[in-house]
Order: sequence, then C-alpha cells, then structure tokens
Amino acid sequence: MSAPKKKEHRKLFTVGGDAPFQFTEAYKSLRTNLEFLSASGNCKTILITSSVPEEGKTNVAINLALTMAASGKRVVLVDCDMRKSVVSRYMRIPRNRPGLTNVITSRDDNALAGALVRMKDNGITILPVGTIPPNPAELLASPATEKIFAALQSAFDYVIVDTPPVSVVTDAAVLCRVADGVLLVVRPGVTTIQGAQLSKKNLEAVNAHILGVIMNGYDAKKTGRKDGYSYAYSYGYYDTKQDSAE
Ligand SMILES: Nc1ncnc2c1ncn2[C@@H]1O[C@H](COP(=O)(O)OP(=O)(O)O)[C@@H](O)[C@H]1O
Ligand SMILES: [Mg+2]
Repeated sequence: MSAPKKKEHRKLFTVGGDAPFQFTEAYKSLRTNLEFLSASGNCKTILITSSVPEEGKTNVAINLALTMAASGKRVVLVDCDMRKSVVSRYMRIPRNRPGLTNVITSRDDNALAGALVRMKDNGITILPVGTIPPNPAELLASPATEKIFAALQSAFDYVIVDTPPVSVVTDAAVLCRVADGVLLVVRPGVTTIQGAQLSKKNLEAVNAHILGVIMNGYDAKKTGRKDGYSYAYSYGYYDTKQDSAE
C-alpha cells in the first residue's frame, strides 16, 4: 500500500488589500529601483530564484508582477518551475491549461497567444507552465525557448520569470541567457550561508547579472533592532492566522 499523500499548505501573500503597509511598500521600493535600472540599461526580463524550495520565490515573483502592473506596466509572469509549479494554483488558473512547454513544442505560430492568461482583476498576464516534461532543462535550453522570450519581451514592459532553486537543478542557470538580470531570494530560517554562496557561484558560472538579493519574510521585531530599519529589502509578512488548507 502506498503512503498517504502529504497535504501541501502553500499560501500566497499578496500586496494591497489587507496586507501590512510595510509589505506593500517594500515591493513598491523594489519596483522603483528596478525602474531606475531599466532607465540606465536593459532590465526587462527578470528571473527570480533562490537556493532551495520554500524561500518564497513564487510569492516574490507574483508580488513583483502585481506591483509593476499596478503602476500601469504591461507585465507577463512566466512559470518556468517545471519541477514544482504552483503559479497556476496560487492564481487559480486551471492546471490543465496549455502553457510554456506546449508552446515550446508546438509548430503553431499562434500557440503563444493562445497560452497567455490575462488576469482581469489585477491586469497581469500569466504564461502557465503547461504539461510537465521529463526533460525540463533541455526544453528550457532550446532555441524555441529563446524565440518565446524574444516575443514576450517585445509585447510586454516586464517579463518576470519564476524558476526552481538554482542550487538544486540547472534550469534557472539555463534561463539566465534570456534574462537581463536575476533577483536572488533569501529567507531567514530557511536559507543557509552555504546555500546562498552556492547559488551565487552557480549564477556567476553562467555570467548571470545578479541585480540584488531579496530578503523575504524578514521580521524586524525578531532582530531586536529598535529602529526597525534593515539594510536589505524586506518582505516580512508573517501570518498569525493558521494557513488555510488549499
Ligand atoms: N514573506 C512570507 N511570510 C510568510 N510566509 C511566506 C512568505 N513568503 C513565502 N511564504 C510561505 O512559504 C511557502 C513557500 O512559498 P513559495 O513562494 O511557494 O516558495 P518557493 O517558490 O521558493 O518554493 C508558502 O507556504 C508561502 O505562503
Ligand atoms: Mg516556487
């Protein structure tokens, strides 16, 4: 008899609504800094990665996309996590929709347009992951993937890319060739110094342009700092309520 499947309790914390003011403000400040970088060079395609699972890559990718769209930018969020794709679940998009992998393997010129999902309530567009393939890294390394990213770059102001952990699999490093910059997510209590160092090394090995580090889930109160300031972008959002079972 097979072991019972462990129930997952993943949750999306989003900017706006009843989110803490500092949480939403931190994303706005990240947006401003990325806009400055865009003004002085190309910073259109931004890859979000981290060293291991559960550091908040997907939460950060979605919130960055939402924050940019809120200022009127045309934003597409591409789910490139073919190992543990959760963007569709977080955004309540049916799991069986065609997505990136189907567009990569399609010969139909309209496949990309047909796979994009425009979210009416927040204005972002999502390219779901699609059918999970046995060979994610090879698919992502294909010339077809480059063509898809080139098309997205010309249709949108920003292309935000959610990826699997860079110290575990090569997919994120493979995708660096289509990205203008990389944001590395770290999370207190989850990220280790060694993990962060290995991620940096793996990204540098493919000449990735590391734009910065995002500290996700940082709680100023727990550090004992009375002024509450930190020298990193912080995205503290600790929910005191119990995670809702999804
Ligand atoms: N800032 C945060 N505060 C509290 N919980 C968070 C925060 N960021 C992420 N989480 C939680 O951590 C889990 C993993 O987040 P996710 O974005 O899916 O990580 P990853 O993509 O790195 O695997 C989710 O249950 C999510 O709700
Ligand atoms: Mg993720």
